Amino acid sequence: MANHQIKVITEEGESVSFDCASDEDIISAAIRQNIFLMSSCREGGCATCKGICTNGDFEMGKVSAQALPMEEQEEDMVLLCRCYPTEDMVVEVPYTSDRISYSEEGKEFITTITTLEQISSNVTKLCLTRSDGEKKIKFDSGQYYDLEIPGTSTTRSYSPANIENNQGEMEFLIRVLDEGKFSNFLKHDAKLGQSVNVKGPSGIFSLVANGFTPRYFVAGGTGLAPVLSMIRFMKEWVEPQPCTLYFGSTFEEEVFYSKELAQLTEEMDNLTVKICVWKASDTWYGEKGSVVDILKQDLQNVSIKPDLYLCGPPGMVDATHSVCEQVGIAKENIYLEKFLPSVS
Ligand code: FES
Repeated sequence: MANHQIKVITEEGESVSFDCASDEDIISAAIRQNIFLMSSCREGGCATCKGICTNGDFEMGKVSAQALPMEEQEEDMVLLCRCYPTEDMVVEVPYTSDRISYSEEGKEFITTITTLEQISSNVTKLCLTRSDGEKKIKFDSGQYYDLEIPGTSTTRSYSPANIENNQGEMEFLIRVLDEGKFSNFLKHDAKLGQSVNVKGPSGIFSLVANGFTPRYFVAGGTGLAPVLSMIRFMKEWVEPQPCTLYFGSTFEEEVFYSKELAQLTEEMDNLTVKICVWKASDTWYGEKGSVVDILKQDLQNVSIKPDLYLCGPPGMVDATHSVCEQVGIAKENIYLEKFLPSVS
């Protein structure tokens, strides 16, 4: 089997090189040599390992069309967990070198369930506390962790809604589906005091320093979690940029955390919250209409173009993305995280 040289170049121009056999995917080859590039599902479904091949050739294995759409494949974008080199390759990745680690130490830990509460018709709040003697939870707001369903090797990725802390606490807001392995675990088996293995953090969705440019956060459903973490981080560090949260749901009974958001608005002079319900009743107190339409109206009237942080289902993220393009917000000012369906 031929061996090829892979050079991975990070956002700031640092590089790391390693060998990869032609029947081996690039993420696995790197791990074999103790290089841990960004990855999560390792089965072509989440897009965490996305990069762009700037030199060399390769074959792509099976990937989810949402994680790597055809138009991105045509631009030589790759998912490294499903990318098999046929030549030496150079790949650029959209993250900095501090996201690459050289051991897995500290990446996996044990937690205990401390809160399990249904907070809307389809969302459960799950709080975990580290129970391995260590109390540090260190991540960038917007990143996610992989939670393992006890007694299985199945994991699902969720972003904490709280911020990094030294109390070992993690707060997750999880959409409960009719079917779904983690949903079934929450509905039927999870209980207070139960141990849950956690791995992470992962992901490149995070706040970007950009002077005093206003920040707009657009969240659909439990996409609220990572952006709430970002807003809470801004509060903790007294970041002064004006920020507006657009939180969208289809029905009123799906809305959650309205009290927490009202409280946050009182505590932060620079925060505006708009809770948007698409199919609202006459008595709904918040915004009526789709989050994308309400955002579009607002963006047409702004004098300073904001940075946009989007998190939610692919349809909402894509529609918001095209609204941003229509009103002239540059691609570089849009940061997004899509919820992609699990491959298994
Ligand atoms: S890690 Fe490659 S797509 Fe998820």
